[in-house]
Amino acid sequence: LANSKEEVEIYGFLDGYRGLIYGNFRMLTDKDFSGILTKGGTILGTSRTPFKTIQDPDPNGLNKVEAMKQNYYKLQLDCLVILGGNGTHKTANLLRKEGLNIVTLPKTIDNDLWGTDMTFGFQSAVDIATDAIDCIHTTAASHGRVFIVEVMGHKVGWLTLNAGMAGGADIILLPEIPYDIDKVIEKIEDRDKKGCRFTIIAVAEGAISREDAALTKKDYKKKMEKYPFPSVSYEVAAQIQEKTGREVRVTVPGHMQRGGSPCPYDRVFASRLGSEAGKLILDNQYGFMVGYKNREIVRVPLEDVAGKLKTVDPDATIVQEAERTKDGKSAKTGQPEPDIGVQEKAQKDQLLDALMGKPVQKEDNAPNPSVAKTEKSPLSEPTLEKRSKSAEGATLNKEKPSVKEELRKIKESRKEQETEVSPT
Ligand code: F6P
Repeated sequence: LANSKEEVEIYGFLDGYRGLIYGNFRMLTDKDFSGILTKGGTILGTSRTPFKTIQDPDPNGLNKVEAMKQNYYKLQLDCLVILGGNGTHKTANLLRKEGLNIVTLPKTIDNDLWGTDMTFGFQSAVDIATDAIDCIHTTAASHGRVFIVEVMGHKVGWLTLNAGMAGGADIILLPEIPYDIDKVIEKIEDRDKKGCRFTIIAVAEGAISREDAALTKKDYKKKMEKYPFPSVSYEVAAQIQEKTGREVRVTVPGHMQRGGSPCPYDRVFASRLGSEAGKLILDNQYGFMVGYKNREIVRVPLEDVAGKLKTVDPDATIVQEAERTKDGKSAKTGQPEPDIGVQEKAQKDQLLDALMGKPVQKEDNAPNPSVAKTEKSPLSEPTLEKRSKSAEGATLNKEKPSVKEELRKIKESRKEQETEVSPT
């Protein structure tokens, strides 16, 4: 906009909605935009102005929504450009409904905004969280301990899933897939048996156990009031330590994940979205978030975005891929190889048992995959349980041919052996 041929005045509100409510702003000129591409954070400051209380009067009885509208009209603005995550978009949509012209941009490290495949800030945070896991690898490998790295992301697991995969975490716990601590321990012990000296667990800050996920919201809230741990990672650590006697260490990179210089992806991505936002404003097209869908920059109506969370789908192929790429070294070569997956191994064992005439074990008893899959979460959709199960099924079905192939080979080699030793 600053570069457009049309004369455009740009005002920056300080600390986000707070500046709009209390009329704190300054005019922005070219020099304000110079040299900021490499900077993280915001040149205007930000504040938590929760949507939940936006319609409540402030401590002095001020009607915040009315105050924002008055400042908008007083300054004779044509449009408000709003950058932020979920809460920000709910308020933006409210202001749109109040008659203000709004264009928004998806900015959050959580990548949880509906209507866009990507938010800016996310890839930079993935880089930092991955670095944290990478650094932990060194000590983990030396000491042979269990390490937990807690990753931000609020109620969703995008950041943990991506950083967990990129950092080669052995177990990844996401809010969308409530975890079973026994399965986590089973996995740690399984790695031990395979000769792996350490286990690294990437835990989303919003991860939740099966037991907690089964609680009503009221009971869960009650439990959290007396929660003795600083965060879920410490609870997971305490449980592992108690049940296995193993040394567990927790690392919480915390707000480091929101800092530093943006990565090149984010710089390009934010520039592209910003450019499109400028175009929308010059075209007088309002009420949209500029998003990114199927590798295209798109305009998404604000009413479609506000109030919806984009969570990790437990059925998503990336989740199945994460499960399959976890684990170990080849027993033959000692080199890392794509793991056949604990689930698949169990299935293979069952088929071998069947071949040997042993009764077939039920699928329910099969060990857990690396990314824990379980039932419903109060943080995601009610159909999760069903979908989790079908995801497991999908993984198993997909892998069936290779298992069958292996069995066929075993049968053939047995036949050959029998032929070799059979009396003529
Ligand atoms: O929404 C972005 C985010 O960084 C979340 O990942 C995290 O839960 C939260 O903000 C932290 O908020 P605050 O800085 O207010 O503690």
